[in-house]
Amino acid sequence: MTIFPERVFSGIQPTGNLHLGNYLGAIVKFVALQKTHECLFCVVDLHAITVPQDPGELRQAIRRIAAAYIASGLDPVKNIIFNQSQVAEHAELAWIFNCVARMGWLNRMTQFKEKAGKDRENASIGLFAYPALMAADILLYRATHVPVGEDQKQHIELARDIAQKFNTDFAGSIAANGHDGPFFPLPEPLIQGPAARVMSLRDGLKKMSKSDPSDFSRINLSDDAEAIAQKVRKAKTDPEPLPSDVEGLAGRPEAENLVGIYAALSDSPRESVLQDFGGAQFSAFKNGLVDLAVAKLSPIGGEMRRLEDDPAYIDSILRDGSLRARELAGPVMDQVKDVLGLIR
Ligand code: AMP
Ligand code: TRP
Repeated sequence: MTIFPERVFSGIQPTGNLHLGNYLGAIVKFVALQKTHECLFCVVDLHAITVPQDPGELRQAIRRIAAAYIASGLDPVKNIIFNQSQVAEHAELAWIFNCVARMGWLNRMTQFKEKAGKDRENASIGLFAYPALMAADILLYRATHVPVGEDQKQHIELARDIAQKFNTDFAGSIAANGHDGPFFPLPEPLIQGPAARVMSLRDGLKKMSKSDPSDFSRINLSDDAEAIAQKVRKAKTDPEPLPSDVEGLAGRPEAENLVGIYAALSDSPRESVLQDFGGAQFSAFKNGLVDLAVAKLSPIGGEMRRLEDDPAYIDSILRDGSLRARELAGPVMDQVKDVLGLIR
């Protein structure tokens, strides 16, 4: 029976600005996992082009995600940091998974429904097949753990379904090709973290998102201290003072979101934040949150800008990362071809 060694894979799309939701929902977890696991962190540019992108902006956005990874503390020597389209096997395995996944499975994906909106007939086929490419990203490296925010859980479940179907549909050929047990692991999502779902600063019921038209809805990693302070001060609240226990946050989405952000940034439980601020007015709490957010985030933004001024350095990291990723991906792709009966 195959025992798959633990390996972590995750990716972020080079679209729009990286925000606090991406940072707390994903990157903070990456930074912790690099201490204990072999990790690959990808800039998923092929996912970005499932909707229209401006070529010049896309190139810059790819470098910006790489810069954010490094500025947040991911070590490009210890981890493999790379760009998806520079490893052709991602697209190759995605095609094979398009032939494994069922229309019915993809029809259930809520992100497609959200992104395609009302004009579904006009959505790209890539946007529909997006989760099969995501499954390929993960399974190409037989990754076992995938740190993501809550919104990606359904896609990881689909990757498990694809892995499972491949393993059973081709069980005979997998055994005949000398594999002792399942070919792909069933990857596990790692959702738990300081803040799996950071909400908009303008509406506590909406997810903080790159695509929100209002820049005041999110704190971008590239925001300077002044912008961070302004956005926190303008954040929507309710008229009551802060509660002194977590139960008191029920039915108060804005309070819950801001307290959650404070807890995540200070790496402390919400209970202890409310011990400090229970009974306080939002204005006092916001002063504390501004100081904390500026102290934590503005050095990352500064380092990102410094790195982005040196695109040749970023490109060299991505080139090196893609060479290392290809060394892992090539043999798996060869095995997939053998199992399917393709000639190589
Ligand atoms: P994306 O920007 O869609 O490529 O997302 C990159 C990562 O950030 C994924 O793991 C998402 O689940 C996570 N993420 C995006 N928005 C949020 C949010 N508002 N709260 C928590 N995690 C998020
Ligand atoms: N779909 C993910 C998102 O929008 C990004 C992504 C692409 C990803 N491939 C991945 C995340 C593989 C984890 C693993 O956030």
